[in-house]
Amino acid sequence: MLGPPGAGKGTQAKIVAEKFELAHISTGDIFRDNIKRQTDLGKQVVSILKSGALVPDEVTVALVKDRLQQDDCQKGAVLDGFPRTIPQAQALDGLLADMESNIAIVPYVKVRDEEVVERLSGRRTDKRTGKIYHIKYNPPPHDADLEHRSDDQPETIRERLEEYHSKTAPLIAYYSDKGVLVEINGEEEISLVSANLLRAVEAAAK
Ligand code: AP5
Repeated sequence: MLGPPGAGKGTQAKIVAEKFELAHISTGDIFRDNIKRQTDLGKQVVSILKSGALVPDEVTVALVKDRLQQDDCQKGAVLDGFPRTIPQAQALDGLLADMESNIAIVPYVKVRDEEVVERLSGRRTDKRTGKIYHIKYNPPPHDADLEHRSDDQPETIRERLEEYHSKTAPLIAYYSDKGVLVEINGEEEISLVSANLLRAVEAAAK
């Protein structure tokens, strides 16, 4: 899943993973979980996530390599937030070649920067279930135990957008050249984005 912060990658990746019974690998979720548990990795990346910068490629690639070798990835996986730089994409090509696997589709969820700011300011996550909500577009149930991500502050959102445009957006051409990129309008309602995305994944799987 490719797209700017707040495009809906996490929201949609969960839906695709459930529908096609694939593993859902979110590098952001893995980093946040390590920060919460105060592991060595968590201590290494906490200030990077807080600033909105990207974690070094070698750290991220090693983590994904390990994760892809776990049993639940045998049928395939939805990669959410990885790769995020050209070196990460090249490393992934190498990993998949070693595993005799390949990329079926790279959905590029397109959303404008103004919309990103609106979405991230209103995003809330349920601490217990990990479900993603928006106070206006996808209101949480009353019994949810909500948290507001520490990198969803205006200054950090700006930094994340800059990182996206300079380091991640070049992947649009990278995957377009490989013939696997499918652009999805991320500014429709969540259910419509899902319907378009599921249709594209189904077509790619054939
Ligand atoms: P990560 O967790 O990957 O964050 P991100 O890419 O910035 O993406 P987000 O999780 O913010 O947004 P999303 O696209 O998943 O949108 P969501 O579905 O939540 O990364 C965090 C940090 O970890 C990075 O900054 C970096 O430091 C590090 N990191 C992670 N991966 C890395 C890598 N590969 N290399 C280096 N560093 C890495 O939706 C957002 C909101 O919008 C929600 O409130 C949702 O309810 C709402 N919404 C969703 N869809 C719609 C819709 N269609 N209409 C209206 N509202 C919607």
